[in-house]
Amino acid sequence: METALPSPRILLGPGPSSVNPRVLEALGRNPIGYLDPELFTLLDDLRADLRTLFGTANDFTIPLTGTGMAGMECCLVNLIEPGDNVVVGINGFFGMRMAEISRRLGANVTEVNAEWGQIIEPGQFYDAVKALPSVKLVGTVHAETSTGVRQPLEPIAEIAHDRSALFLVDAVTSLGGIPVNIDECDVDVCYSGTQKCVGAPPGLAPITVSEAAYQVAQSRKSPVPNWYYDWKLLRNYYDAPHTYHHTVPVNLLFALREALAEILEEGLEARYRRHRDVSHQLMTGLTELGIKPFANAEYRLPTLNSVYVPSNVEDEVAVRKRLLYEFGLEIGGGLGDLKGKVWRIGTMGASATRRNVALLLVALKHILA
Ligand SMILES: Cc1ncc(COP(=O)(O)O)c(C=O)c1O
Repeated sequence: METALPSPRILLGPGPSSVNPRVLEALGRNPIGYLDPELFTLLDDLRADLRTLFGTANDFTIPLTGTGMAGMECCLVNLIEPGDNVVVGINGFFGMRMAEISRRLGANVTEVNAEWGQIIEPGQFYDAVKALPSVKLVGTVHAETSTGVRQPLEPIAEIAHDRSALFLVDAVTSLGGIPVNIDECDVDVCYSGTQKCVGAPPGLAPITVSEAAYQVAQSRKSPVPNWYYDWKLLRNYYDAPHTYHHTVPVNLLFALREALAEILEEGLEARYRRHRDVSHQLMTGLTELGIKPFANAEYRLPTLNSVYVPSNVEDEVAVRKRLLYEFGLEIGGGLGDLKGKVWRIGTMGASATRRNVALLLVALKHILA
């Protein structure tokens, strides 16, 4: 019987990114049991490395089972109770999801909107929280994958904490590619995914929760409506007494352990510099091809480069298809209102190399000619 193994690809889309051989080899190891003492040693090491990556001393920092959306759901479901006032920043696709999940959990959601491609001004958060009698949670996306915009976090943290609200951050497209600095920025809860800048396959969502946020969840009036993602039950597995909770995907944990080791061997500063350098190389090359950046330079992410589809391209999907089928190169199209208008080019994790970018530029030049 023929296998259905995928063709080789260089992943320069909005994620997942390509994965290094060392990480892939770890995936292929024989599983061990979810209560094996060796797994707990691995998990302790891995959690310590995640704290370093997040820039936090938060004890409750774990590789949650599931993708980035699981991280989002898990954090919101533990914190929100029906009737809570929640303020969500929306300047792209993923902020909209945060608001939607919060509404489904019964929150009164105040949306703080900015045009896609712009940051949300801190004054907008200030006005929103000021207008409410109390606020449980303020949430925003650090790196909007739909637009390529980096949202500054510190001013929002201050605004949230002035109203005794918790501050939640989506770091799915930032963790491992740009500094996240949870403790320095005073973020209470943050989630990410492993498949972008962290350099591991999809399937795990690193989350970090401050003790204050954890205690807010413990003092809920109603039980957490989702058993699988109840922090307390999860913590009883990841911490002693290591009570069985679910069969953790051990192979993904092996892979993440190696990806984190690679990150720390490279060094955080060197890694962030690599992301900046490779993004700069890409944007310079694209400018030479007459392709214009979408996001403002001041807030442009080095991990997700959004550019306008050139006006002389009639069928942008056809360009991306040719990149994929002729060159094995994946880039992303626009989401929502930006569909057909922008390309989203990821330079994340193991995909962020000068070689990959050089290849993409040559291929694009060839196709656009
Ligand atoms: C900013 C942001 N948040 C959340 C998600 C959801 O992550 P996942 O697709 O891994 O569930 C993504 C995925 O691209 C993202 O970019």
